[in-house]
Amino acid sequence: MLSLLSERASSVFAVPAEAALSTLASLLLVYCCTSIPVFVWALRQYVGSLRAKQSRPSAELMQKPTSNIPSPEDTQRLIKARRSCFPKDYTGESIDRFVIEQLLEAANWAPTHGRTEPWKFVVLGRAQQEELLDLTLKVLERDCEPEVFAKKRAKVESKRSKAYPKVPYMVAICMRRQALPEKVMPEWEEMCAVASAVQNLWLAATAHGIAGYWSSWTAEARDSQDMKDFLGLGPQDRCLGVFMLGKCADLSVCRSARRPLAEKVEWRV
Ligand SMILES: Cc1cc2nc3c(=O)[nH]c(=O)nc-3n(C[C@H](O)[C@H](O)[C@H](O)COP(=O)(O)O)c2cc1C
Repeated sequence: MLSLLSERASSVFAVPAEAALSTLASLLLVYCCTSIPVFVWALRQYVGSLRAKQSRPSAELMQKPTSNIPSPEDTQRLIKARRSCFPKDYTGESIDRFVIEQLLEAANWAPTHGRTEPWKFVVLGRAQQEELLDLTLKVLERDCEPEVFAKKRAKVESKRSKAYPKVPYMVAICMRRQALPEKVMPEWEEMCAVASAVQNLWLAATAHGIAGYWSSWTAEARDSQDMKDFLGLGPQDRCLGVFMLGKCADLSVCRSARRPLAEKVEWRV
C-alpha cells in the first residue's frame, strides 16, 4: 500500500521513488504521534462521562426540597470546606458574641434519641481559659510521675504562651448523662448526640468563616473531678474535650484529605 502510494507520489511530484517513500513514512509517523494521544484523551473523556452519569443522581433528586433549604451542591461544599484549623494559625482577632450564639444555636438542633438533648457547652473567654490551664497543670502535677509531668507541662506551657492567646473562645464540650431525669439512654447514644451537636457547631462556624477544631484536651485533666467541678458537671456527666474557635486569615492553610469512600462502603443492593 505504502509502495503503491510512493510510486504515485514519485510520478506526480517527479521525485525519486525512495524520496517519496521516506516522505510518506515520515508523514505517517507524525500522523500517528499526534492522533494517538488525541484518541486516548477522547476515550478517557468518554469513559469519565459514563462513570459520572452512573454516579450522578437524577435531576429530581438534585432538586431543592423546599426553597429555603441550601441546595445539595451548597451543602456538600460547606461540609467539605469544614476543617480542623489550629490556634497557631489564628490571627488573635475577636469574634462577635452574637456569632458564637449562632453556632451554639446550630449545635442545639442536633438529633437525639429520646429528645434528651444531652449536650452542655461551657463558653470560656481568655481569662477563663487561663483558669482551665491552671487546673490542667494542677491535675497533671498531682496525677503524673514527675518525668511525665515535666514533659506534659512543657507542652501545655508552650501552647499557653504561643497558641492559646490567639483563641478568643474555647467551648468545653460536655455530655450530661441524664439531661432529662426520667430518661436514661445508653451512654453511647448520648455521646453520639453530642458529637452531632459539635458537627453542627463546626459547620455553622465554617459558614461564618470561623476557624475551629475539636481538641481532646489533656486526658488526665479532662476526666478529672476537678474538671467536673470547674464545668459544673454531675458525677456521671463527661467532658468530651474543648472546641477552639478563632479567626484565621486564610482558611486554605488548613488542609485535609480522605481515603476513597469505596474503602468504607459496602453496597448490598
Ligand atoms: C473527637 C475528636 C477529637 C479530636 N481531638 C484532636 C486533638 O486532640 N488534637 C488534634 O490535633 N486534633 C484533634 N481532632 C481533629 C482531627 O485531628 C481532625 O478532625 C482530622 O485530622 C481531620 O481533619 P479535618 O477535621 O480538617 O477534616 C479531633 C477530632 C475529633 C472528631
